Amino acid sequence: MLYKHFHNRTNIGNSTQYDVPTQPGSKAYPRFEAITLPESARIATSLSDVLERRNSSEAFGSATVFATKALATLLFHSVGVREDGKRMRPSGGASYPLECYVVANRIENVASGIYHYNTKHTLERLIGEEGMQNFMDLLVYDFTKDAACYLIFTAVWGRAYDRYRDVCYRIAWAEAGHAMQNALLAATALKVNARPLIGFFNDKLDVLLDIDKDDENALYVLALSV
Ligand SMILES: Cc1cc2nc3c(=O)[nH]c(=O)nc-3n(C[C@H](O)[C@H](O)[C@H](O)COP(=O)(O)O)c2cc1C
Repeated sequence: MLYKHFHNRTNIGNSTQYDVPTQPGSKAYPRFEAITLPESARIATSLSDVLERRNSSEAFGSATVFATKALATLLFHSVGVREDGKRMRPSGGASYPLECYVVANRIENVASGIYHYNTKHTLERLIGEEGMQNFMDLLVYDFTKDAACYLIFTAVWGRAYDRYRDVCYRIAWAEAGHAMQNALLAATALKVNARPLIGFFNDKLDVLLDIDKDDENALYVLALSV
């Protein structure tokens, strides 16, 4: 049982070196064309209201286009950087191992393709429309295919590894949960259908994103449709 072994071996006391700094950072792809997203909207819905209404949708095939403003609002509330320089989510040792990619299938004013979310609130276009079918093919469940868009959360292990060693796995997953929950609550407030997914072939997704799989891996996917 690997999970037991993993749990025991990633006890924080065994390997953490508190005198070693974390390496927080944000990826950028300056050589790729970037789209500046609209400013995020403020969400006025009450927290109780969204918590009581949140559910995992099963409806993704609708032809309706996803509004850019809704996408910008979702991204900002999930993985954005605030004016005070802090994030909307907590992170172990402020290491911020998460990166976010956006699969744009039907988004208003955004050409179909796969983008990196730059924390300057832009989308950097990594892969054109030809990547769309490859992405849909690596989703396990048919009903989760053909959503208007997807967010992909990856972990860049090196940001937390030197300080936390293998505990970086727990740190990245906990942070992915925070970012995902922020996105799910924002989606509920915006009346967007959403479903978190681990039902995807993660090794194939790493290849599709062309990330260095020794340092960065896809963890978690969010399907979104209106
Ligand atoms: C870590 C995690 C992974 C999930 N992965 C999938 C998935 O791959 N496919 C899917 O259809 N639903 C997935 N879900 C959604 C769950 O099936 C859903 O949350 C559960 O049925 C409870 O329903 P509710 O979210 O509407 O309360 C996932 C949920 C979590 C928290």
